[in-house]
Amino acid sequence: MPDFRYLLSEREIPKTWYNVIPDLPAPMPPPLHPATLQPARPEDLEGIFPHALIEQEMTAAQNIPIPEPVLDILRLWRPTPLQRAVRFEKALGTPAKIFFKNEGVSPAGSHKPNTAIAQAYYNKAAGVKRLTTETGAGQWGSALALACNVFGMECMVYMVKCSFYQKPHRRTMMECWGAKCVPSPSELTQAGRKILAEDPETPGSLGIAISEAVEDAATRQDTNYSLGSVLNHVLLHQTVIGQEAIAQMKLAGATPDIVIACCGGGSNFAGLAFPYVPEKAAGKNIRLIGVEPAACPTMTKGIYAYDFGDKSGMTPLLKMDTLGHDFIPPGIHAGGLRYHGMSPLVSLLHREGVVEAVSYPQLKCFEAAMTFARAEGLIVAPETSHAICCVVDEALKAKEEGKEKTILFNLSGHGHFDMAAYEKYFAGELTDYEYPEEKIREALAHLPKAS
Ligand SMILES: Cc1ncc(COP(=O)(O)O)c(C=O)c1O
Repeated sequence: MPDFRYLLSEREIPKTWYNVIPDLPAPMPPPLHPATLQPARPEDLEGIFPHALIEQEMTAAQNIPIPEPVLDILRLWRPTPLQRAVRFEKALGTPAKIFFKNEGVSPAGSHKPNTAIAQAYYNKAAGVKRLTTETGAGQWGSALALACNVFGMECMVYMVKCSFYQKPHRRTMMECWGAKCVPSPSELTQAGRKILAEDPETPGSLGIAISEAVEDAATRQDTNYSLGSVLNHVLLHQTVIGQEAIAQMKLAGATPDIVIACCGGGSNFAGLAFPYVPEKAAGKNIRLIGVEPAACPTMTKGIYAYDFGDKSGMTPLLKMDTLGHDFIPPGIHAGGLRYHGMSPLVSLLHREGVVEAVSYPQLKCFEAAMTFARAEGLIVAPETSHAICCVVDEALKAKEEGKEKTILFNLSGHGHFDMAAYEKYFAGELTDYEYPEEKIREALAHLPKAS
């Protein structure tokens, strides 16, 4: 019987992170200070980030060594399996070979601990006692709770309100690891109180939760802020995924024609796809596709401009694909994809034609997730269902064209805490949201003037 799971030993966890910056086809526009609109200096970020992470945010070194204590924790679940989805291929009747990297096997259930562990480590080493963060789906909050617990730090999570009530057990999970989790907007911060006064019924957004977490960190000496996606250093930490995948695809004797992952802020996509950028730059015909929700179509319908990372305008301005920091996406169940912006690195590669972007409405994604679950047994997070939806389309295209494509996708997280979403899907209570064109136009009218 042929092998369908391609496993590496603990010794084969990558020892360095891959930095895509030296391989970019155009220079990265610098982040700008929110008040002066001048390029942000490292010291501008020192109030909320440790020096080592600021350095990683700006470095042009190609490979960054992973500290031994970080490797020691990653070893709890890495290397993650690479698997060929043979039964899924059969269900689709496609000649395509479909492989996936299963990041759902981490303790928190997604790729997010890959960076949470590294960020907690560097903060601890800098003497920081407490970390704050935002979370959408709850995957990132859980990951940081886990990481803070490992390194003996306090953790405070502002969880987007609609997700907080959709997934109450995520909060309990964070509490198991000793963290505190509150719905955002909250009464605990100025930013939260202001938004609640304007709209008490707001579903919340990642942009709002970031404002709260940044304000909390900026106003306490013992506290730093930690971001689960978007920034260069976060994407850097995720590149263990793609480096492992390259080694595992070799074991499988295959190379991908298409690499697919869902995109919220871009970190799981970058983690899998960036290590393939040098091969693509060297002329290999390989498509890198980021998948986003039709309700929050940052790359497919947004513009490439300087914008704030948060709702209240506290963060540096980043040049990125954006729908406008004021945009509050509809409360779709893929809470981790409800972000108005896209990582500057992914955005630049998208604008330069290295990365493609597509968007899908949620019902079609849930349908694809069900086909996958019934073929492979794995119930994925609603975020991940977007990647699977694109895999289905590409596999059916290969069938139509009679081509033996090789598709690799990132299974970014399991959906065990997302049963309320699946329940609604089965009850026929989930709807697709119209592309919120008017709301996006309004939000884009409020972009900062640096654009
Ligand atoms: C399972 C899962 N996949 C994907 C994402 C999207 O984030 P990113 O684009 O940073 O990978 C999230 C975010 O919360 C998530 O929980």
